[in-house]
Amino acid sequence: MRLDVVTIFPEYLEPLNVSLVGKARARGQLDVHVHDLRSWTYDRHNTVDDTPYGGGPGMVMKTGPWGDALDTVLADGYEAGSRAPALIVPTPSGRPFTQELAVHLSERPWLVFTPARYEGIDRRVIDEYATRMDVYEVSIGDYVLAGGEAAVLVVTEAVARLLPGVLGNAESHQDDSFAPGAMAHLLEGPVYTKPPHWRGREIPDVLVSGHHGKIARWRRDEALKRTTAHRPDLIEGADPEGFDKKDREMLSILGWEPDPAGEPYGRFWRKAPDVEE
Ligand code: ADE
Repeated sequence: MRLDVVTIFPEYLEPLNVSLVGKARARGQLDVHVHDLRSWTYDRHNTVDDTPYGGGPGMVMKTGPWGDALDTVLADGYEAGSRAPALIVPTPSGRPFTQELAVHLSERPWLVFTPARYEGIDRRVIDEYATRMDVYEVSIGDYVLAGGEAAVLVVTEAVARLLPGVLGNAESHQDDSFAPGAMAHLLEGPVYTKPPHWRGREIPDVLVSGHHGKIARWRRDEALKRTTAHRPDLIEGADPEGFDKKDREMLSILGWEPDPAGEPYGRFWRKAPDVEE
């Protein structure tokens, strides 16, 4: 897979040399090109932004440098034999970046990222390239970063670990918390490793019982507890068909009940906890 990143802070992308992404690069599984947007400015101050039409706070990134940068990057990539680029525009007003989108992007041969600073990029740039390639405007969460570079690192890492041969264990990402097609989307529970005693803390007995069925059940119960605590929306949104008898027992202990009027039938819901408690 080829990745191009155009940014005014190329050094911000240094982490792409480290760890999993760095190794994938070294092995030739990822071909990463980071470009300085200011290489496509022609004035003394290397200007990339200007005041917004219509007024308002902040600055907007100009069409000129982005247009010239993207034309060059796309021409270089095509020249090198890459095909079907997708433009990834990190923005807090984008669609949520999810595991499903990560899987989808991991199947594309070439991603071009345009992390912006200031109030974003002049809309015409995105509209222009949308006529020639698929554009994904993505947000990595409901908070505002100072720029899109950190979002590029997030998306790159989530995508790179899905590429064939990048993760050591081929099965590793099949049971990711948000893997598409997982029964119900549940958060993973706690994990433990040696030593068995640490500062007076033990590990759950079931994990050394050698009883695979009981271990799987325990893990599932822990996942239900954790999801109830941190992401009750995932239980509310889950297809109730995905919960077996034992799941239902645990859900009941956790205060959930099937809603006979739910859509689909029997979706789980929970009374809001009493304020006194
Ligand atoms: N740029 C600023 N905030 C962002 C966010 N939440 N996601 C993606 N890009 C951003």
